[in-house]
Amino acid sequence: MLSKIVKAVALVALTSCALNAGDYNAQAEKDRLALVKYIEAKFKDPVKNQAQFFPYTTKEELATDYAKNLKFDDFNLGSYAFAKDAKEQYEAIKEMPPYEDAIDEGEALYHKKFANGNSFETCFPDVTISGEYPKFDEKRKAVISITSAINECLVANGEKAWNTKKGHMASLEAYFASQTTEAGKKMDIKIPSKEAANAYEAGKQYYYSQRGYLKLSCASCHIQGAGQRVRNEKLSPLLGQVTQFPVHRLKWGSLGTLERRISGCIVDEGQVPPKDNSEEMHNLLYFLAYMSNGMAVDGPDIRK
Ligand code: HEC
Repeated sequence: MLSKIVKAVALVALTSCALNAGDYNAQAEKDRLALVKYIEAKFKDPVKNQAQFFPYTTKEELATDYAKNLKFDDFNLGSYAFAKDAKEQYEAIKEMPPYEDAIDEGEALYHKKFANGNSFETCFPDVTISGEYPKFDEKRKAVISITSAINECLVANGEKAWNTKKGHMASLEAYFASQTTEAGKKMDIKIPSKEAANAYEAGKQYYYSQRGYLKLSCASCHIQGAGQRVRNEKLSPLLGQVTQFPVHRLKWGSLGTLERRISGCIVDEGQVPPKDNSEEMHNLLYFLAYMSNGMAVDGPDIRK
């Protein structure tokens, strides 16, 4: 009898252990599903649901310029998912994509030998990895962005780190993104441990923290505000926001990394952005990327 009880207790302990092991993303998954539900509801029928979601937009504008019945996969186009007019301009520019040369440059950089004879191939044998970053590094107990991983590869091989916002960095990331897209891969961010879950929570906290005299958070604009027009731009939803980076922005006249774009938003909030290789930025990117899990990687792309 006793041995039966001991066995039963051991079994319960074992199964609860096994459950926990796979369960570190439980909260993140709950957050993600709630986001998908909210964003799908918001863009199901903007005219009909004006009072609930778009009280500051006229029914006429909602009818003429907002697509409806959008589903999960549609949202990886940023604001072009729903903004009909902007989407037409976007499709026209896509006919002659201004980032093609950058992809070629990225490919050349990938194969180019460092002074010590190694190359990026040594650090990244697989080039279809855009959907796997940021990654939680269990040894360092820290999130690593693809930008930081690239710079760490350079430094480990005796080379100088690159600018994290544009130039070579954006080109190599564009090459990775194009290869990941061609391979048909999806965003697949993992939260493998308690520490990783804490990093996710820290990123989420940053996202929802209100800053500056307007007390704006990322969420004010990209969740509650998603779909609202700010001057001549419409705010993209958090869902799908990272799947197309790096992007060539007409305003920049060049390709830029996700960090470049996010830093712009933080400056607009009247704040000083965290360094691109800081724990704060890494955790924020981790949260952002997890929210797009399951969506196709589809980069690089263009933006206004
Ligand atoms: C005052 C409103 C505002 C706030 C606050 C804000 N953003 Fe933005 N953000 C914009 C606008 C406007 C754009 C350009 C239009 C668009 O694509 O949403 C943009 C674009 C982006 C994009 C690019 C989307 C794409 O598809 O190209 C990302 C990513 C982003 N913001 C992240 C953030 C993060 C992270 C924060 C918080 C640190 C933040 N934003 C805070 C207004 C804001």
